[in-house]
Amino acid sequence: MGRTTASAPGKVILYGEHAVVYGYPAIAAPVTQVRATVTVCDGDTPGVRLLAPDVGRDVWVADAREDDALAAAVRLVQQRAGLEELPPLVIHLESTIPIAGGLGSGAASAAAVIRALAMHLQQVELSSDAAVCDLTYLVERIHHGTPSGIDNTVVAYERPVYFVRRHPENRIEPLVVGRPVHLLVGDTGLRSATHAVVSDVRRRWQEEPERFAPLFAACGAIAEEARTALEAGDLARLGTLMDENHRRLQEMTVSDPALDRLVAVARDAGALGAKLSGAGRGGNMIALVESEQIEEVRQALLSAGAVQILASVLA
Ligand code: MEV
Repeated sequence: MGRTTASAPGKVILYGEHAVVYGYPAIAAPVTQVRATVTVCDGDTPGVRLLAPDVGRDVWVADAREDDALAAAVRLVQQRAGLEELPPLVIHLESTIPIAGGLGSGAASAAAVIRALAMHLQQVELSSDAAVCDLTYLVERIHHGTPSGIDNTVVAYERPVYFVRRHPENRIEPLVVGRPVHLLVGDTGLRSATHAVVSDVRRRWQEEPERFAPLFAACGAIAEEARTALEAGDLARLGTLMDENHRRLQEMTVSDPALDRLVAVARDAGALGAKLSGAGRGGNMIALVESEQIEEVRQALLSAGAVQILASVLA
């Protein structure tokens, strides 16, 4: 058997975060420059050892707590494969996706563990995109009670998606982009736990449904229109829709001064539009830029304190 490697990318939400939890459409895309990579090797001691040196982790799955996400990913694969026991294994995770930065690091780590382990065990079905997506969703639920399912979908399929949370099955449609869309992803350097922001938004929605329900609906309408603009290659409209989406997210209370600053600076430097991306209250923002503007906007973001900038193209 030897050694098996699989990886999963980071992600950005282009339009519709938070509202997507409540059944409105959203659009997300992979960010392939940052990845979680997992290597599974045959071990020489019984048991499955999980190593994640970046975060100082070295645990045996048998000793891990029920709510340990990566151990849960391993147990799920074992269960779905119908195996009483796993052979001795060492699972090694490395990731360049910032943790708690809104770029889907948890989903990507789980997806990479699931895919690498399923492949190593020669479970072809379980290593398909659809199975990796479903199992990653179950892992996501451990930490973040009510995930919409968009993060696990975009990291498992590794393509831009239009997504609507639905029962019994989500609507997942690959996106066709009329013209290349250049994005800069700027990191505030501030960390934010998705589950905390999502549950705070839920609490506020329950307390003030008359204020939050229209905000969610407006974000859904923005995502819907953005899909048409993406297909038509209408970059100017896409930029305006990002700005509108950011305003709604501010009203939802999920932006913060660092995100607002990077968003404003990107626009002033010539971006067609900008918004926070992901759960917010720290983490990353995105700016839509024409290719000639990339350098200027990047420099402006760096001068304004962005700690990392990634350039990504949807094509
Ligand atoms: C997080 O990437 C996106 C949120 O909408 C949460 C979710 O969809 O599960 C904030």
